Amino acid sequence: MGDVAISIQDVSKHFRLYHERGTSLKERLVKVRTSRYDELWALSQVSLDIEEGQTIGILGHNGSGKSTLLKCICGVLQPTSGQIVVQGTLAGLLELGAGFQPELSGRDNVFLNGSMLGLSRTEIENVFDDIIKFSELEQFIDNQVKFYSSGMYVRLGFAIAVNVDPDILVIDEVLAVGDERFQRKCMDKIREFQEKNKTIVFVTQSAEQVRQICDSTLVLKNGHSIAFGEPGHAIRTFRETLLEGPDGVGGTVIDDADPNAERVIEFEPDSHEQPIQILDVVLSYPDDASNAYLKSGDPLSVRVAYQAENDIDDVIFSLTIVEPKGETLLSTSTEQMGLHFDVKTGKGAMEFAFQSWPLLDGLYKGSVGIQSRKGGVMYDWKEDVVNIEVLYDGKSGGLLNLPISGSFTTGNLNERGQ
Ligand SMILES: Nc1ncnc2c1ncn2[C@@H]1O[C@H](COP(=O)(O)OP(=O)(O)OP(=O)(O)O)[C@@H](O)[C@H]1O
Ligand SMILES: [Mg+2]
Repeated sequence: MGDVAISIQDVSKHFRLYHERGTSLKERLVKVRTSRYDELWALSQVSLDIEEGQTIGILGHNGSGKSTLLKCICGVLQPTSGQIVVQGTLAGLLELGAGFQPELSGRDNVFLNGSMLGLSRTEIENVFDDIIKFSELEQFIDNQVKFYSSGMYVRLGFAIAVNVDPDILVIDEVLAVGDERFQRKCMDKIREFQEKNKTIVFVTQSAEQVRQICDSTLVLKNGHSIAFGEPGHAIRTFRETLLEGPDGVGGTVIDDADPNAERVIEFEPDSHEQPIQILDVVLSYPDDASNAYLKSGDPLSVRVAYQAENDIDDVIFSLTIVEPKGETLLSTSTEQMGLHFDVKTGKGAMEFAFQSWPLLDGLYKGSVGIQSRKGGVMYDWKEDVVNIEVLYDGKSGGLLNLPISGSFTTGNLNERGQ
């Protein structure tokens, strides 16, 4: 274990949200007896130790307390209770425009900000050119920052924060404001900081960013820390909170005690008689008895059990899978797979087997159907009965987890490096 750079112990932050005064007489009479403010715990007993050199991502839905926690770490807000101890110098990029004086020019703000971060005038002068160069705001540096666009604020803020060479870098979601090219530049800078063993804490909505660059991830929900640790697991927990919504109601909470509960779906045969009906659909994958999640890259099978009332020649089993955003990912059938099957009276099963599941984490939903090949009659169709929860432990981003390896070659190469 390395040294602790930021120790957060039992931190709570309380706000009072004041209501506007009622204007009508009735409103005022009613309001007399009620309190004029709501109590809000933006943070409740959050504890974690962030080790030196670690990159920590913070995920959480809107209003979950992410910015409040960062402000407490930066000392902009005082926790109502609990304690935060920071070892080393810290530069923070908090909410948009925070720390800037709108009436002053970009240049003056660089000096003001630098001195707030503890740098002398000479020290700031030494890094001034690097700051301006990184921000790409040469032409605008003598304009008042109140005329800056939100992207320009972020460019300047990030350029200052990374060029004052802090031990700890704290960044709120503001990076999402910059254009894609600038975001990439910021990510490169963050990687450079990682190589220099600096500590980084950043808030993002992007599970992909978290997976790519974080060592550990904190998930906040209504001010509570509900997960801290390995990014893949944290992303899963975060996705579950998104399903639940901020009040924790109306979502599907997966019951870990019974991992089979989500995977086996049985159906009552429909009353209107069809010659063949789906009885149940079962997912199988390694360790499925103890694990509610399929690991990306592992094999998977979807088994469709049926009951046939009579012999039927040549039925088609179909499977459609949609990705988390609802786009169709795969639509196939035994016909398209070149399989022909004559169903005999009684029970049977058809299995779709994937050698490996090549997608990154998320919830993939599938539907299965049985239809006739001749005449195209749909005998049975079960919409969204397949729930494939995928967990990805690796660092790569994007959509696919394809088998890939890397190698290096040096020496004895031609001038083209081949
Ligand atoms: N200064 C304040 N006074 C009163 N309430 C506040 C204040 N700052 C934050 N809050 C409240 O605290 C809660 C947490 O806010 P916070 O800004 O930390 O959330 P967040 O996770 O950063 O959200 P977002 O994703 O929208 O940025 C919210 O309900 C917010 O309304
Ligand atoms: Mg915020």
